[in-house]
Amino acid sequence: MLRWGIAAAGKISNDFVTAIVQCLPENEHKVVAIASRSQKTADEFAKKHGIPKAYEGYDKLAKDEKVDIVYIGVLNPQHYEIAKLMLEHGKHVLCEKPLTLNEKQTKKLIGISKEKNLFLMEAVWSRCFPAYKEMKKIIESGEIGEVLQVNVDFGVPIIQNERINKKELGGGVILDLGVYLLQFQQYVFRGSKPTKVVASGVLNENGVDSSVAAVLIHEGGKTAVVSASGTVSLSCEARVSGTKGYIRIPLFWCPTSLDVNGELREFPLPKNSDHFEYKNSAGLAYEAEEARKCIMKGKLESPQITQSESIELAQLMDKLRAAVGVVYPADSEAY
Ligand SMILES: NC(=O)c1ccc[n+]([C@@H]2O[C@H](COP(=O)([O-])OP(=O)(O)OC[C@H]3O[C@@H](n4cnc5c(N)ncnc54)[C@H](OP(=O)(O)O)[C@@H]3O)[C@@H](O)[C@H]2O)c1
Repeated sequence: MLRWGIAAAGKISNDFVTAIVQCLPENEHKVVAIASRSQKTADEFAKKHGIPKAYEGYDKLAKDEKVDIVYIGVLNPQHYEIAKLMLEHGKHVLCEKPLTLNEKQTKKLIGISKEKNLFLMEAVWSRCFPAYKEMKKIIESGEIGEVLQVNVDFGVPIIQNERINKKELGGGVILDLGVYLLQFQQYVFRGSKPTKVVASGVLNENGVDSSVAAVLIHEGGKTAVVSASGTVSLSCEARVSGTKGYIRIPLFWCPTSLDVNGELREFPLPKNSDHFEYKNSAGLAYEAEEARKCIMKGKLESPQITQSESIELAQLMDKLRAAVGVVYPADSEAY
């Protein structure tokens, strides 16, 4: 039985807890505490989800001895400090993507988890979907030949949402949507790091990126073309192209189907009542179960999204931000 504490009572925390309660066995996962900046919000969240403990302030959650692992659903600029707080109090951590704001914070956080011998996973939930595992099998089997190109886009008109719009809230589409694009090409070309990255984008009035496009070249002529927009809707599909065929992945960040050379293969979500804030959030159960399995086996990281992959993602996001000109106050701090 893994005992979960939840840091922040926002939208993704709501979906994560709903997925655990609706989709996973009670004797394997239990949400035992919620912490929010305000007692009122924590109490409301606890009441809604039937959670026994509600705290004002994340430090009280860190000190709760009944909590094994903390799921971190705070905003991007707080990921580093809250994840660090939990690790320093001996908690395993599953932290929402992006793990932190930049490479420096990511390396520091991973260092702390290793020093403390605790599990730390970036919540790149996509990696835990059955469709991703099937995609990997297809690529490795050679069914679509040698994979040479990935095309993937993610466009949703979200730039007016406060947390995406503002620099002080860690806004911008690179951190919000770009992380999914980058992890996708990383997954397809697993083990290979891009040798060249060319990127550009558009800044909003607050100096955060409202759109970005990038080309990533890997050895052997392998190419990824990625684009994200916070102002217009894009296809939100990925296409993996090989010398003998293709895989098309609708809703590539939380897919329930794959189109393999025109043949549709389906991977339904766990049974749920669908009262979620975000698309296909029942699939958050896959990453919760991945964290439980890893911890039960004494693993300190998940093979689905390793810590070195999280560092590489942070490096790539830093590169894209530098190309577009997005700088967060945390970038100039020492860690
Ligand atoms: N995996 C996914 O599918 C997915 C989807 C959406 C978002 N996310 C990630 O999840 C995280 C939270 O996103 P969300 O949509 O859940 O956000 P949200 O509901 O707007 O806010 C999450 C929490 O952040 C805190 N917060 C809100 N405004 C704040 C402010 N001005 N200053 C400091 N803290 C503030 C609040 O914590 P308290 O409750 O403690 O007050 C709030 O509950 C982000 O890192 C995002 O990238 C992941």
